[in-house]
Amino acid sequence: MAPIRAFVPPLVLACLITACKHGPDGAPIDDALYRMALDQEGHVWYGFSDALLPKSAGSGHGEPLLRTRYNDVAATLLDSMGKVLPDTVFPVGALVVKELWENDGTIGTYAVLFKKPSEPAADADGWVWGYFTGDGEVRVTALDQGAACRTCHGQPGHIDRTLMNIYFP
Ligand code: HEC
Repeated sequence: MAPIRAFVPPLVLACLITACKHGPDGAPIDDALYRMALDQEGHVWYGFSDALLPKSAGSGHGEPLLRTRYNDVAATLLDSMGKVLPDTVFPVGALVVKELWENDGTIGTYAVLFKKPSEPAADADGWVWGYFTGDGEVRVTALDQGAACRTCHGQPGHIDRTLMNIYFP
């Protein structure tokens, strides 16, 4: 018994530290989305280019420059030009991250779409919507289920709520 007991306190401590990682105003799902947005492993850029694009006239986001990337699951729905295939319905596990850049070369905002219908914060399409400052402060919690985002992202021509193809054809 004694050797087993000796391992309990470190385990409890590890759980407490993990649980405290999300910001004061963010839910655990926000923390998870932000960490996913930072991890660029296997991501593919829209148009196969990491160049910063001037934001479109239709953008609901503040910063002047942007670029968008797709994780390995989402990138399977890009065509030979790096644009989203028509009639795409993104599969479970698809992650789309838009980086919004200030002129000074720093990321002002991350806008995130993650397909996970089983997540309580998911909307009717199975998307979880995340919105953060560059350093991870929650700007709009995912618990809002994209209420501030979905109308604009449902405009004619959207592809499973995504808009890059419309504004950067
Ligand atoms: C007034 C319209 C509008 C609102 C509101 C809006 N967006 Fe967007 N969003 C755009 C447009 C337009 C684009 C295409 C790129 C650009 O020009 O910014 C885009 C692109 C994106 C992308 C890249 C994927 C794609 O192709 O659509 C993500 C992710 C995203 N927005 C997330 C969000 C989130 C999260 C919210 C809410 C907190 C939100 N957006 C609110 C207009 C909007």
